Order: sequence, then structure tokens, then C-alpha cells
Amino acid sequence: MSEALPMTALPRGTLLSVAERTCRLEALGPSLRALTADQRDPIAVMATFAACVWHALPQCSWAGFYRRVERSLLRVGPYQGGLGCLEIPFERGVCGACARSRLPQRVDDVHARADHIACDSATRSELVLPVWGEGGTLRAVLDLDSPHLAGFDDAEAALLASLLADAFAAARWDAADWSPT
Ligand code: SME
Repeated sequence: MSEALPMTALPRGTLLSVAERTCRLEALGPSLRALTADQRDPIAVMATFAACVWHALPQCSWAGFYRRVERSLLRVGPYQGGLGCLEIPFERGVCGACARSRLPQRVDDVHARADHIACDSATRSELVLPVWGEGGTLRAVLDLDSPHLAGFDDAEAALLASLLADAFAAARWDAADWSPT
């Protein structure tokens, strides 16, 4: 799979320049769109997206999703990296702030954010973006963590938001393709 992505594999923890990171995200677009085209199962899209972003952005120590499983509760979904918390209520953490506000959260120094949940004490910065389902309903958040201060940039956030919209375009969050008998 990583051979199919149009970019060099780099050691985990490498902090590339913003220009290099945006270039790698732009290069990811066609592969990610091809991989997720017509994919209705959001878990399959999340797993594929997390693996692609993990490969493209080596400054990440965690890259994955928290799914909205109740009106105000997030539960971990597919991810790459160390162990994440299993559940995050909307009132907690940077992921919760994104889910509550429906706005992207870029935190350059998590030590300056009282509500940050320290799943990994090495995390210094993070980026959390909303994931939208049918009818503009918040269905999940994308959470990226880095051991670098200011490990994420607004240009990166904008590109990731666009990649998310494309990747989840066919996802059906309510309708399962099977029914239990
Ligand atoms: N950093 C998140 C918690 C999730 S983990 O770090 C994977 C937060 O404060 O919401």
C-alpha cells in the first residue's frame, strides 16, 4: 500500500517544512480519492485516510478518528500511532472542543490548553478537524497529534479538510450494507 503512495517514506518524527507537508498532502489527493471513491462504509474510509495521512505527515505521533456515537460522545475509530483514549465526551479535550464548536482546533502548544487530554505525555501540538456526514451532521473528528511544538499549520488544515470532504463523499453513516438476521 505505501508503495502506491506518491511520496518518500520518512523516519517517524521528521518535521518537514510547511511547503513540503502541503506538497505531500496535495500529492495524496488523487490516490486517496481513487481509494475511497464510492466507498460507503465510513470505517473503511477512516482506516484508509488515517494510513495515508500517517504516511504523508511524519511529524504525527497519532493520526486517526473519534466517531460520534451519541449526541455528545466520541469513541475512538481507526487510527495509527500509540494507544488513544477510548471515549471523549464533548465537554472534554481538544477533540471535544472541535465536536462542540464544529470548528477546527489547531493547538500549537498543548501545555497552554487546560482542557487537553494527555493520552501521550510526549504530545506537544495537535490539529482536530470536524468530519461531516449527510445533511451537514457532525459524524466524527480527525485528530492529529505531534511531539513537535506547532507541528501543524493552517494550510495543512485547509488541505486536510478538503481531502476529508472528498474521501467521505460517498460514506453512509447510518445505513449499513448488511442487516443482522
Ligand atoms: N489529544 C486529544 C485526546 C486524544 S488522543 O491524544 C489520541 C484531546 O485532547 O482531545
